[in-house]
Amino acid sequence: MNVLIVGGGGREHALAWKIEQSPKVTALFCAPGNPGTAQVATNVDLKADDLDGLLQFALDKSIDLTVVGPEQPLVLGLADRFQEKGLKVFGPSAKAAQLEGSKAFSKNLMEKYNIPTAAYAAFDDPDQARAYLKGKGPQVVKADGLAAGKGVFVCADEAEAVDAIRQIMNDKIFGESGNRIIIEERMEGQEVSLLAFTDGATVLPMAAAQDHKPAFDGDTGPNTGGMGAYSPAPVFTPELKQQVIDRVMVPVVNGMRADGIPYQGVLYAGLMITADGPKVLEFNARFGDPETQPIMMRMNSDIVPILEACADGTLDACSLEWKPDTAVCVVMASEGYPGSYEKGRLIRGLDQANRLPGVTVFHAGTKQAGDQVVTSGGRVLGVTALGGNVQMAIVKAYQAVGKIQWEGVHYRTDIGQKALK
Ligand code: AMP
Ligand code: GLY
Repeated sequence: MNVLIVGGGGREHALAWKIEQSPKVTALFCAPGNPGTAQVATNVDLKADDLDGLLQFALDKSIDLTVVGPEQPLVLGLADRFQEKGLKVFGPSAKAAQLEGSKAFSKNLMEKYNIPTAAYAAFDDPDQARAYLKGKGPQVVKADGLAAGKGVFVCADEAEAVDAIRQIMNDKIFGESGNRIIIEERMEGQEVSLLAFTDGATVLPMAAAQDHKPAFDGDTGPNTGGMGAYSPAPVFTPELKQQVIDRVMVPVVNGMRADGIPYQGVLYAGLMITADGPKVLEFNARFGDPETQPIMMRMNSDIVPILEACADGTLDACSLEWKPDTAVCVVMASEGYPGSYEKGRLIRGLDQANRLPGVTVFHAGTKQAGDQVVTSGGRVLGVTALGGNVQMAIVKAYQAVGKIQWEGVHYRTDIGQKALK
């Protein structure tokens, strides 16, 4: 079969790497892809949000299955448009993707179906927002409509929250998205990402992973899209996982179907493991990045029949097998990320790192320049290693990281350490 992957980051390289191993696949394309996906697929010069171009390409090349990486094409209605033309897509409709695209939608759904999450309120007026803070415990202040963890202030007290409101709503440090803010109860605990396949009725959970959102060691500095991830996450015991399946994943899938917005694709729950049990931070309508990198390295089963079963509504007949090993992914980023950074820096040592046993270097923000690879984004590489235990996987991942250099490279040195505690 012919498969098209939409996107061009580390997540899409990991998906391409896994999908290419399926005996079912005869041709694999990635749009736009990156120099990493070019090793396992044919890159197509179309942007992930160019729905017209992608649709035409899929029709021309008789694509049997399209797998969507990022949320934007889903929110724009890629799945709807492809399905109208009889093309099979892995990923939710535009309406269902509101679960990620609209905070109000996801919070209302959680309220309706009693899914544990932080108390929250939305404000268009800074005075009302400040008044709401009175007598409340620590809060989180978020600019509405901003993705990837930016625009979020996790505040220790009322004074910090008042200051965050001023920066977002009055000083407009995030521009017009600061017209509206969300104030949320601050939750304490470890974060876990649970991703599940679903066809709209059956929920098939993947192995859990833990992301590292802050830019610097010890979870300090600004939030990023994720500086590294590992799987499994020991803090997420089988009991906790079952609790989240029963109280979060299944109610979301059943609730959306009952509401006439069936959800098909990956349901990603960002969770906080609080003293009162797991609570939802957010939902994403797609695979996580960088969580997908360690998850794909641990997945033993062929992923392609599962992706097809989600689109076909036959997931009840599927199961998943995992390697018992731990996978650790260290993100190597450009100096300055998540703020501004230089591009075009020559990357050395990719081959030496990739040659280490059990190591795969997934490309994210890279570009081919002649026969060399240069940096072209904030998150540049996801260096991922499998090991017999967490410690071994960490050592291997950092051995590989040590082989790779460019001017101004930045990475965290403590990825996976939480799993050792
Ligand atoms: P978000 O973009 O909403 O997922 O927020 C980004 C990050 O901010 C999360 O991964 C958490 O680390 C932190 N965060 C967001 N909401 C809360 C909350 N209610 N309590 C504690 N931390 C939060
Ligand atoms: N790693 C966080 C995300 O994919 O949203």
